[in-house]
Amino acid sequence: MDDFAYLSPPAVLPAILNRTVRLAFSMASEPRTGALLRVLAASKPGGCLLELGTGTGLSTAWLLDGMDQDVTLISVDVDSKVQAVAKEFLGADPRLRLVTGDASVLLRQQVPKSFDLVFADAMPGKYEFLDEALGLLRRGGLYVIDDMLPQANWTDEHARKVPRLIADLARRPGFRLATLAWSSGMAVLARSD
Ligand SMILES: C[S@@+](CC[C@H](N)C(=O)[O-])C[C@H]1O[C@@H](n2cnc3c(N)ncnc32)[C@H](O)[C@@H]1O
Repeated sequence: MDDFAYLSPPAVLPAILNRTVRLAFSMASEPRTGALLRVLAASKPGGCLLELGTGTGLSTAWLLDGMDQDVTLISVDVDSKVQAVAKEFLGADPRLRLVTGDASVLLRQQVPKSFDLVFADAMPGKYEFLDEALGLLRRGGLYVIDDMLPQANWTDEHARKVPRLIADLARRPGFRLATLAWSSGMAVLARSD
């Protein structure tokens, strides 16, 4: 099986990637992360999706590519310069609401159990404010993270945090976890009650 043979990225992706490289944005997600996000988004017709950490909009583009017309996506990033790329290429999509601000604030403003998928790709909602992020999931809702496999730029402190996060997710009552050695290392948690 060739992981890369059937990716078929969204048509807008090369343009966003081009701008991502020009901006020297180094935190871009990998195509396989996007491909899984697109599948998971497609499994939530009528759903409300949340992305913490828009970046330049690469993962946003994959999510939108999987979403039905009646699905909504809120995506937040504190950095208006990188998010401007997402705004330029994806901002006209009526299903998407881009928020410029701190994800920890946005997380606390949302109604508990009102989302069907949370892609947590910033510190808030992952290494901080995890309870708040998980609390937003409806029954059957999915919590998705990447960057779980070791990376060259990790500090020793970060390398210690990652297994602690996975162990924490595995212990949560009312959730089911799968860890995937896919892309940069992913974990998917489903709310089961
Ligand atoms: C890993 S990158 C996101 C990559 C993006 N999802 C993609 O697919 O390419 C993390 C992003 O989180 C943003 N960020 C960092 N701290 C944040 C915070 N407190 N609130 C919102 N966004 C934050 C950064 O500006 C950065 O764009």
